[in-house]
Amino acid sequence: MTDTLTILGLESSCDDTAAAIVRATGDEAVILSSVVDGQIDLHADFGGVVPEIAARAHTEKLDLCVDAALEQAGLTLSDIDAIAVTAGPGLIGGVLAGVMLAKGLSAATGKPMIGVNHLAGHALTPRLTEGAGFPYLMLLVSGGHCQFLIAKGADDFERLGGTIDDAPGEAFDKTARLLGLAQPGGPSVEAEAANGDPKRFRLPRPLLDRPDCDMSFSGLKTALLRERDRLIEAQGGITRQDRADLCAGFQSAVADVLAAKTRRALASYLALAPATPMLAVAGGVAANKQVRAALETVCAKAGVTFTAPPLALCTDNAAMIAWAGAELFRLGRQDDLTLAARPRWPLDRGAMPMLGSGKKGAKA
Ligand code: KG4
Ligand code: ZN
Repeated sequence: MTDTLTILGLESSCDDTAAAIVRATGDEAVILSSVVDGQIDLHADFGGVVPEIAARAHTEKLDLCVDAALEQAGLTLSDIDAIAVTAGPGLIGGVLAGVMLAKGLSAATGKPMIGVNHLAGHALTPRLTEGAGFPYLMLLVSGGHCQFLIAKGADDFERLGGTIDDAPGEAFDKTARLLGLAQPGGPSVEAEAANGDPKRFRLPRPLLDRPDCDMSFSGLKTALLRERDRLIEAQGGITRQDRADLCAGFQSAVADVLAAKTRRALASYLALAPATPMLAVAGGVAANKQVRAALETVCAKAGVTFTAPPLALCTDNAAMIAWAGAELFRLGRQDDLTLAARPRWPLDRGAMPMLGSGKKGAKA
């Protein structure tokens, strides 16, 4: 085996069909191509991702994405050293579509196949983009997941805590729906919040009385709903300013909770005495300016480097799966045709399964 690996990655665990080719040489990596075909339009009428529609779309689009990724990279399948595929966690129909295609490609070409945990793909991205050294602290904040992980190795993660109900992105999306704003809710709520007063509605900061790193976001949206209904009852509707103030109050509450729990997670992480301490965030919510600023402040005070991958690599993509596949392949990991698609797959094998965590969304 030469030191250079050219890996094809496949991702289909939620509503993005993606294929990418990454060339890894030692610690260096080049993304030769990264194709993402999103499904927002297909699900727009339903207020959420419809698993059956997602699975069908993945089945139709995956091989086209692979063709496009090969073409953009100027390669053919024979130039690929191994195939990495998201084998979970996620919506089972979509994960199955990817795993079946990977098995077919592997059987037809004789190339090795590596099943990758989607969360590991996100968690290893700072190594792809920044060359981050282990151990680093990772905060995943997306539409379906929210957790703190210490990345100790490509196959070694310690989960410090996470949401016990909704993920923050899910809470942003529900808030947008309650206020009649467009989906995805994060960017709409952020835009409204820019004109709002975050102090007018004091929304709860749940679980801050607990010393752990667990979080809860579902009560926040209920509190917001109550404020909205109170306004409607009192004045027959809500004004533009009311809406902006509600968005600002909500966003501040999310940022405060994430910042406070990041402080706690950093304390556990720093106890490992890392040589170059780093916090990396990934997931769509990491795009939020207030959330980012709050995390940056916490890191600056703790003397920890803050980093966020470029947005296209923060959200779902297949380059992160190809890279994670390369890391695992180097560790000797390889799967055969018995590779299973897994709807749930905790990254931290030592952690107790958490009821409710990440249950309502399949994204990570
Ligand atoms: O990582 P992502 O693209 O997909 C997964 O969930 O895997 O994240 C999408 C989520 C959505 O819930 C969206 O509302 C949220 O990230 N999001 C944001 C922002 N941009 C996207 N949330 C807050 N502020 C934003 N600017
Ligand atoms: Zn994801």
